[in-house]
Amino acid sequence: MFPTRQAARRLALQSSRRWSHSVAPSPRLNPVTEKDLAYFSSILQPSSILSTLSPSKLPASELDPYNTDWIGRYKGTSTTVLRPRTTQEVSEIVKYCNEKRIGVVPQGGNTGLVGGSVPTGSGEVVVNLGNMSNVRHFDAVSGILVADAGCVLQSLTDYIAPQNHIMPVDLGAKGSCQIGGNVATNAGGLRLMRYGSLHGTVLGLEVVLPDGTILDLLSTLRKDNTGYDLKQLFIGAEGTLGIITGVSILTPPAPQASNNVILALPSFECVLPLFKTAKRQLSEIMSAFEYIDRTAYDLAVKHGQGRALNDEDVEGAACFVLIETSGGKREHDEEKLNELLETLMTADKPIINTGVMSQTPAQFASMWALREGVTEAVSKEGKAYKYDISVPLSSFKDVVDVTRERLREKGLLGPKAVKHVIGYGHVGDGNLHLNVVADAYTPEIEAALEPFVYELVAKYKGSISAEHGVGVMKTHALHYSKSNTAIEMMKRIKQVFDPNGIMNPGKVLP
Ligand code: FAD
Ligand code: MLT
Ligand code: ZN
Repeated sequence: MFPTRQAARRLALQSSRRWSHSVAPSPRLNPVTEKDLAYFSSILQPSSILSTLSPSKLPASELDPYNTDWIGRYKGTSTTVLRPRTTQEVSEIVKYCNEKRIGVVPQGGNTGLVGGSVPTGSGEVVVNLGNMSNVRHFDAVSGILVADAGCVLQSLTDYIAPQNHIMPVDLGAKGSCQIGGNVATNAGGLRLMRYGSLHGTVLGLEVVLPDGTILDLLSTLRKDNTGYDLKQLFIGAEGTLGIITGVSILTPPAPQASNNVILALPSFECVLPLFKTAKRQLSEIMSAFEYIDRTAYDLAVKHGQGRALNDEDVEGAACFVLIETSGGKREHDEEKLNELLETLMTADKPIINTGVMSQTPAQFASMWALREGVTEAVSKEGKAYKYDISVPLSSFKDVVDVTRERLREKGLLGPKAVKHVIGYGHVGDGNLHLNVVADAYTPEIEAALEPFVYELVAKYKGSISAEHGVGVMKTHALHYSKSNTAIEMMKRIKQVFDPNGIMNPGKVLP
């Protein structure tokens, strides 16, 4: 008998409600055992396996670099790290782990800043892609590069440089991070303003799904409107939906001329008018506009990142802006940059104190190092609480000041607690890096900062993660940037790809 139309609607409603509730938490996962290790030994070369279990019995310290994240805040206790050499090997590892319900942590260069690349401690196996580092193909006419996910970003830059192309993504960790990790985190970095995000430049992916299936989406087409664009789901998924093993990416032609200039500003209030003026005057040749506050600059200098500017250029500076231009003709670009400096210096109310333009490639690199090196300097200075947020540009300084004030009120500012509260970031992308540099990670500091910082971001309708991702650090705060409905849809997508919850457990989703 067929139900009436009304009854059918009721049934449909009930079943859709039931489906949404069927998104259950992951069942308990099993730790790797010696029997599992014996299986991995049957499919991988001995040099691809690192384990503290028998028969390998490596000391735990040998696995520390894979268990500990870059800032030393998150530490897992995995006994086993696998370093496969082919996509087929990745597939066999993952298929087995799915059958045995063993958690899998995909790992690239382990430079992530939100604890996403290390185990949470439940006995997962770490699958490090470092042994998959071949360029598969490069077409110097179209600029399309197809590479293994384990290729280090800098090595790809070096590979395509002789063919006059550059990678569309660039970041301070380029010497260690891998293209697969960049894609998995949807890394932003220093070139986003010019070349856009990886959601636009990645053309295709090869992914091993949590049941071991190899999903070949490795297209090299710039245009392809054949239904759902599945690759986008893996860009920024932080390894929770599968392991990326191959990447096809559109690389831009290398600019014929690049210049940079560091401007010292008398106050933060000058940053906005400077940005406006620079955009207008430099227009298409402006390729980066980066901000560092005075303390961030001082820390970079203190910890040997780049060469300090002359004292007279730094005196009275409240903050600095680094502008890069990339264009087709050196003389033309230099002329535009000089005109901009002239405008800035001679304005009725000057918006810069001084400007230092690089004259040689070494100076160009050194000026970039002052900005890129802030991350490294901060990690040398102390333990960093790193908040990577999207907020209106006009609020960058307020966010830093208000956070510092909060810590002062709580009695947590001082050499034995929080040493510095600094701000730097990608002005062109509305992305502020708020870093709280402390003597040690303590529950008191964390309680003072969270949810305080996330509520501040929500007040500005910003994002709690502009570029580093959610990882393990911000799962509990996801709701500050995503609605309940959106989080529910994300959980359903996770359920479709990874019903057993083996892929990077404890990351991204609350
Ligand atoms: P990992 O750290 O190993 O992993 C990061 C995440 O991706 C984890 O969740 C991991 O499980 C997953 N993952 C890694 N590889 C794969 C894969 N093949 N398949 C599926 N999942 C995978 N980020 C920015 O956005 N902009 C910056 O400017 C920037 N600058 C940085 C500067 C420094 C000095 C450092 C240390 C970090 C910086 N970062 C920046 C953080 C950034 O996320 C990483 O540097 C980079 O994108 C991560 O790549 P990785 O290979 O190290 O990945
Ligand atoms: C940066 O812009 O320097 C990176 O995102 C790293 C950081 O936030 O320290
Ligand atoms: Zn950044």
